[in-house]
Amino acid sequence: MFFHIFMWLFYLSEVDSDNCSFNVHYITKESLFPTECSQIIGRFRIDQNSEMKSEQLITLFKNVLQIRGVLQIWNTQLTSAPFMKNIQNITGDPLDKGLSILNNTKLNNLNISSLSNSNNIVEIKNNPNLNLQKMCSIIHEVFFTRRSISKNLFDCGCEIHGNFQWPQVKNFPENCIVLYGNIIIDGNAPPVEVLYRLSTVNKLYGFIQIKSSNLETLGFLQNLDEIESGIEADYTINIDSNNYLSRLDLIKLKTIKSKNSNSDISLFQNTKLCLDPEFLQTIAQSSLRKLEGYQSMSFCGMDKINNPLTYCTGKLTAVPDRCTRYIGNILFENYMTSDYEDITNYTKISQVDMKRVQQFEVIFGTIYIQGTTLKSFTLPNLQEIYQVEDIVNKGSRQLGPRTVIEFRRNDFLKDISFPNLKIAYSLITFNFNGNLTMDDDFCRKMSNGVKRVTVGLDVDYDCRPYLVDVTTTTNTST
Ligand SMILES: *[C@@H]1O[C@H](CO)[C@@H](O)[C@H](O)[C@H]1NC(C)=O
Ligand SMILES: *[C@@H]1O[C@H](CO)[C@@H](O)[C@H](O)[C@H]1NC(C)=O
Ligand SMILES: *[C@@H]1O[C@H](CO)[C@@H](O)[C@H](O)[C@H]1NC(C)=O
Ligand SMILES: *[C@@H]1O[C@H](CO)[C@@H](O)[C@H](O)[C@H]1NC(C)=O
Ligand SMILES: *[C@@H]1O[C@H](CO)[C@@H](O)[C@H](O)[C@H]1NC(C)=O
Ligand SMILES: *[C@@H]1O[C@H](CO)[C@@H](O)[C@H](O)[C@H]1NC(C)=O
Repeated sequence: MFFHIFMWLFYLSEVDSDNCSFNVHYITKESLFPTECSQIIGRFRIDQNSEMKSEQLITLFKNVLQIRGVLQIWNTQLTSAPFMKNIQNITGDPLDKGLSILNNTKLNNLNISSLSNSNNIVEIKNNPNLNLQKMCSIIHEVFFTRRSISKNLFDCGCEIHGNFQWPQVKNFPENCIVLYGNIIIDGNAPPVEVLYRLSTVNKLYGFIQIKSSNLETLGFLQNLDEIESGIEADYTINIDSNNYLSRLDLIKLKTIKSKNSNSDISLFQNTKLCLDPEFLQTIAQSSLRKLEGYQSMSFCGMDKINNPLTYCTGKLTAVPDRCTRYIGNILFENYMTSDYEDITNYTKISQVDMKRVQQFEVIFGTIYIQGTTLKSFTLPNLQEIYQVEDIVNKGSRQLGPRTVIEFRRNDFLKDISFPNLKIAYSLITFNFNGNLTMDDDFCRKMSNGVKRVTVGLDVDYDCRPYLVDVTTTTNTST
């Protein structure tokens, strides 16, 4: 803080000699900004002592496009402030907000349609006749969560500052649709009546962090359909160590974004928590960098998931023709076979089973194919495949965490293709398939255009180092 004050004083004195610099300036009829000053520097206040009419302000500000500093409009009798229409930038200063509009009882109109830049906070409070609706998108673009806006006729959303914690949130409003700020619950959640005031929220501009809580569900966010976190969000969703949490119930959530390109999602040590397949799809489809901490997770059973009728599960032979979304592991294996011994009894995949596997578009589970007689294999319809569990197959071989597809010891296999695969969360591996050509082209083919995937190959050939640059088209194999 002292450093900031020092910097600010230094900054003022440095520019003092400039004709456009006004230090702390109370605007009155005597105020005059030289015509060459498209940028004025200082902290400018219009208040009850200014005695300025709207027209006089228009004249005073007619050449001003940028305020390097602060603009305050406090306790005035103005009904509108058209003088702000042309202002493009209000930088703010280290000690104060950028734009502050307080206690203007008659103000009913604000036009900041040219404003495109501010590094600081906007504060618009206690202007009981001011409806900001037409300015919401500009306020959102310029300030995002750097805002303190309340008690106007329309506020463009409600806000949360600090943790969502009792008793600090006892006045959190009802009927909040657009929420600016982070939902942070650390420890016990507030009483249910207060917690469920969040259930009207559709859009959250901020992150969610739920840590060591007593919550059993996040169903109080049942209407949330979009989250966009700010630049400071290392995690956009971080659910950590909630021992009672058994389901998320974020049933409307469709879009998850962040202004921070390195923002992640983490679900960690929630021992009772199962994942709804749709939720996993939503996060895998998002632009967030990665999903962490799924190692010991599982998909929710049919009785606990959203839209259960859109999936099928169980024995492949019992799956109906029209089912395209399968939950379960698909294992074709000869568990007597080791990786190095001769195989006397190859695994055979029946045509019925093969037809079923090929009809699926989305699979929540692992496909493990081992010791088969297959010469070629294709899944023409598969678009997405997800796994969150570590599975152990019949041969007691533990597959790597999040293995979605593994081919092992298929001696005759020469050709594999997943032409429509878009998302694979996350590991596809190939081991000891003697006739399969392993090279960079193959790696590229397996990972090309597939989101979230890691392709690992044989012990002798691993795509991963190569995957650092999947966009390269030159053939680097020798
Ligand atoms: C500042 O104002 C003075 C007096 O009006 C004028 O002579 C000078 O040219 C101005 N400086 C600049 C940079 O415009
Ligand atoms: C406003 O700020 C932007 C970005 O810093 C800059 O490009 C633009 O020139 C500024 N506008 C004025 C009028 O100074
Ligand atoms: C605005 O009004 C509130 C409540 O009356 C008061 O506490 C605050 O000091 C006023 N702000 C300014 C800048 O006058
Ligand atoms: C704001 O002012 C601009 C420029 O005069 C005008 O085009 C625009 O319609 C105004 N917007 C509102 C919401 O009044
Ligand atoms: C061959 O494998 C199948 C299925 O893995 C098994 O049911 C069968 O008994 C095996 N036959 C021999 C001769 O090992
Ligand atoms: C490759 O396939 C042929 C049959 O097509 C088989 O005889 C041969 O053993 C296979 N090679 C390896 C290394 O498994």
